[in-house]
Amino acid sequence: MKHKDILEPEISLLLETVYQKYHYDFRQYSEAHIRRRIMNRMAMSGLEDVSQMRSKILNDETFASRLLQDLSITVTEMFRDPGFYRSLRENVIPVLKTYPFIKIWHAGCSTGEEAYSMSIILQEEGLYDRTTIYATDFNQQALNKAKEGIFSNELMKEYTINYQLSGGKESFSGYYTSNYNNVIMNQSLKKNIVWANHNLVTDGVFAEVHLILCRNVLIYFERDLQNKVQALFYNSLINGGILCLGSKEGLRFTDLYEEYVELDKKQRIFKKKY
Ligand SMILES: C[S@@+](CC[C@H](N)C(=O)[O-])C[C@H]1O[C@@H](n2cnc3c(N)ncnc32)[C@H](O)[C@@H]1O
Repeated sequence: MKHKDILEPEISLLLETVYQKYHYDFRQYSEAHIRRRIMNRMAMSGLEDVSQMRSKILNDETFASRLLQDLSITVTEMFRDPGFYRSLRENVIPVLKTYPFIKIWHAGCSTGEEAYSMSIILQEEGLYDRTTIYATDFNQQALNKAKEGIFSNELMKEYTINYQLSGGKESFSGYYTSNYNNVIMNQSLKKNIVWANHNLVTDGVFAEVHLILCRNVLIYFERDLQNKVQALFYNSLINGGILCLGSKEGLRFTDLYEEYVELDKKQRIFKKKY
């Protein structure tokens, strides 16, 4: 059988196996995304069909953990989409300044670049000391890297440009220390970040927050699952709280569209109605 012939019921059965054995629930992720990842992993592992893959998942935990990494796409950047961060500075920071203390949730934070970008902006705006940032992901490997705050030196050129385009006025190299081929983010950027394992599909509300960033995560979810996660965000936000989504994500086709006003339509920034 050619890999492109993988049938939908085979994918469902495979995802059911992953769920039953490892309690990771990908059953309502977009089929195109899952299919692509499964095909890649099959090709790389020399597997001939989905049933071979199923038995490997059941019997080989290392293989299963590799597949889980495949299914959780961790691509990220500091100041990813600089226009978004420019808008955050202009439209969101002034709202945050009105609160005596601030709680921010980065849902699907991957290896932490997004949370470090937020720390930098909050420091520059004099808000960091009254903020707690919850940065969560269901991928423990990504979270461990995030906690370390060690990134490749090679990335810094691109991140510096992103930072400048996002309205950053300081010297970006002041936010890290170089160490051979890597950089280590300043301890002062980490001190108010709480890194935690949280699964958007299976875990619930854990705090009431003023701002949620969930960028480039929901794009992989089917409509019903997006609605479920949007309900989680709605219940986690204070009235007047702000929700930021990725550039290809939105609220228009979700059940909660009417419950928000758009603060910046292009940059997908929404404010929960009072
Ligand atoms: C493409 S990255 C986005 C990272 C960052 N938000 C950004 O925009 O650069 C998607 C992240 O979502 C996480 N993710 C996917 N499904 C998740 C779930 N059910 N619960 C928590 N995190 C999830 C993945 O592990 C991955 O780290």
